[in-house]
Amino acid sequence: MKLTVKTFQKLAFALDFKPNFVPVPLSLKSFTDFGQDKCESRSFKFLREEIPVRLSHIMREFHDLPDSFSSRKSVQLVRGWYERSYEELQRYEHQDTSDPKVLKQFLENIQAILNRHAKVVETMAQGVMEMQETFNIDPKSSTELQYFLDRFYMNRISVRMLLTQHVELFSRDRRRKGGDHIGIIDPSCDVGQIVDIAYNNAKQLCEQQYLISPNMDLILCNNSNENQSIQMVCVPTHLEYMVFELIKNAMRAVVEFHSKETEVPNIKVIISKGKEDITIKISDLGGGVPYSVTDILFQYHYTTAPRPQENGPSPALAGYGYGLPLSRLYARYFGGEISLSSVEGYGTDAFIYLKVNPEDANECLPVYNKTTSKMYDTNQVVPDWSSPRPWNQSYRTFCTGTRFYHTSSWTQRLNTCKHKQTFTDRLQRENSI
Ligand SMILES: Nc1ncnc2c1ncn2[C@@H]1O[C@H](COP(=O)(O)OP(=O)(O)OP(=O)(O)O)[C@@H](O)[C@H]1O
Ligand SMILES: [Mg+2]
Repeated sequence: MKLTVKTFQKLAFALDFKPNFVPVPLSLKSFTDFGQDKCESRSFKFLREEIPVRLSHIMREFHDLPDSFSSRKSVQLVRGWYERSYEELQRYEHQDTSDPKVLKQFLENIQAILNRHAKVVETMAQGVMEMQETFNIDPKSSTELQYFLDRFYMNRISVRMLLTQHVELFSRDRRRKGGDHIGIIDPSCDVGQIVDIAYNNAKQLCEQQYLISPNMDLILCNNSNENQSIQMVCVPTHLEYMVFELIKNAMRAVVEFHSKETEVPNIKVIISKGKEDITIKISDLGGGVPYSVTDILFQYHYTTAPRPQENGPSPALAGYGYGLPLSRLYARYFGGEISLSSVEGYGTDAFIYLKVNPEDANECLPVYNKTTSKMYDTNQVVPDWSSPRPWNQSYRTFCTGTRFYHTSSWTQRLNTCKHKQTFTDRLQRENSI
């Protein structure tokens, strides 16, 4: 499809219009109920409304981005993909929900959209790096960018979840696979098994890079049934992604901190199931980080690892600065959280908190409204403390969007670690989610 002036005007109208509808967050419970019903026309009816609404909310936010970022070629490319997918889905607005031909076409279209958006993370990251190379990013733009990327990637996770679920449930090839899974959801996912898989994958990478890797001590603490494994309703690929990223970080810290020793201390993983939370605690003796950088660790593109080799022989263990912020989004998506607590000179504890009850695990979705536009509106960020606040360096909180003063040392830190690289290995993992 060519983006003619007319199409653009139509889109502009649609963009103004659709954000008036608020996205409908689903709980994990509604995903599984919906999946068990397996009613394709019902799913079609929901998606043809909901996906354009979710897309339009984030597309609207593109307009508010600083020019230095939105004018990047790669950002415009991503924007073009969103506009095209939005347009395609709009065509189903008045189509017959029970016509098998329409349902088939919709399914194929969705698959095409998933493929089109497969390289979004890589392409946006490219845009950020281009911007960092071209401009000396001012604190306000940096803050806006982090705020936008969190919302943009969260939106992407949610849209991919809905689309992939539809494809998994209704595409003929996928249906033949069978098993207990409801689409991409495992209603009785064994958390210990996922941790094992993630550990072994990280171990392989670590050994490729350092020829050594820490062992893992795994402790299960099932408060509801002592002798049983810990199970939960979840999307195993999301869980594996989070655990893998945190274990990779722990392994790298341990091996580097003990680089002069012949043996390295173990990583300790505790999985505990309470009434409300399933908590996975990953502890390492990797020397930790200073308190002042704890929050910066969650900024996109912040890394202390060297730039991974382009087309290197094996995927890198670290170096992209995406592991923590993206993992945290996967946790937050269904109402969970990831946090880090570090003791400088000793080690780090990383925590993944997830909801035990699928009824409580509600999608957390970015909504475009007046508050959002204000976040991008204010021209100047004025410090309202005499010195940068030493006890909390997160300048805008995730949900409330409170604006804080942004220190220049942060920008310096970010600029020192800017680099160009391929995101191929990371993408291979993200695309499968
Ligand atoms: N357990 C840890 N101990 C010490 N430092 C850590 C730990 N976890 C994270 N960090 C620090 O946080 C930085 C950011 O982590 P993050 O996972 O986001 O990116 P990365 O590991 O550098 O690259 P990648 O995106 O490939 O994972 C790391 O470079 C490292 O400096
Ligand atoms: Mg990492």
